[in-house]
Amino acid sequence: MAAEEAVPAAHEFPLPKVLEYPASTPPKLITQGAEGRLYKTTYLLPDVPCALKYRPPKPWRHPILDQRLTRHRILSEARILAKCRRDGLRVPTVYAIDEAAGWLMLEWIHGVPVRVAINNALGTRTEGIDRDEGLKDLMRRMGRAVGKMHQLGIVHGDLTTSNMMLSPLQPAGDAGVAHEPLDGEIVIIDLGLASGSISDEDRAVDLYVLERAFGSTHPRAECLFADLLEAYKGSYKQAPVALKKLEDVRMRGRKRSMLG
Ligand SMILES: Nc1ncnc2c1ncn2[C@@H]1O[C@H](COP(=O)(O)OP(=O)(O)O)[C@@H](O)[C@H]1O
Ligand SMILES: [Mg+2]
Repeated sequence: MAAEEAVPAAHEFPLPKVLEYPASTPPKLITQGAEGRLYKTTYLLPDVPCALKYRPPKPWRHPILDQRLTRHRILSEARILAKCRRDGLRVPTVYAIDEAAGWLMLEWIHGVPVRVAINNALGTRTEGIDRDEGLKDLMRRMGRAVGKMHQLGIVHGDLTTSNMMLSPLQPAGDAGVAHEPLDGEIVIIDLGLASGSISDEDRAVDLYVLERAFGSTHPRAECLFADLLEAYKGSYKQAPVALKKLEDVRMRGRKRSMLG
């Protein structure tokens, strides 16, 4: 059948049925993590790319428990994305969901993960990173995006520079629109571990996770994290309280690492 030929033979694992629709262009595997895989594909229109997040069955888990966990996580991620979207935070739109089959079809976010944008920028800069306005402004946009998410009562659970995209406002066309590689809006992605919370402690932990991830992913740019926190501070009313808590969370982290 033609539908089967559309699926690359190189895939050694079963694809969810939705990727076998004849209308889909051959899905491209973007990442394969511990929990799931992300494909770039199309769904409703052949020229509208989308991201298919698929959590395949885990053979080492009890099948009924596995199904329940997968369903729960897919539904939870979709609900949180829908809520963020409704409340005006820039996240991928949910196009379709089949929680029983274990997949979520999302708007494709153009651009690059913030991790890549920062590393590209660092590669072209030799000194004065702490005074680099382009990078500092990017950090401030990140701080405001996280602040807005927290203001909406959502904590992310896995904040890293890989779970934020930097998406150009106008697609780089052939009209010669010269745009700065660090321009664009921050789109928070991967809300698979997110939950509803308005606790300052939970918010502080979210920031701490990001701070640690940032320091290990971009050691040369560590000095810029203060700009993110500064912008976060001004992004919603309760932010200064969460930042105060961050100091306690850091202290506990330090004590823990001293104990080994
Ligand atoms: N909606 C999207 N549009 C474009 N790229 C995406 C999208 N969602 C995820 N990605 C890319 O795929 C990677 C993995 O997706 P993610 O949702 O973070 O899943 P994981 O749980 O495997 O980390 C991201 O770091 C990003 O590069
Ligand atoms: Mg991720």
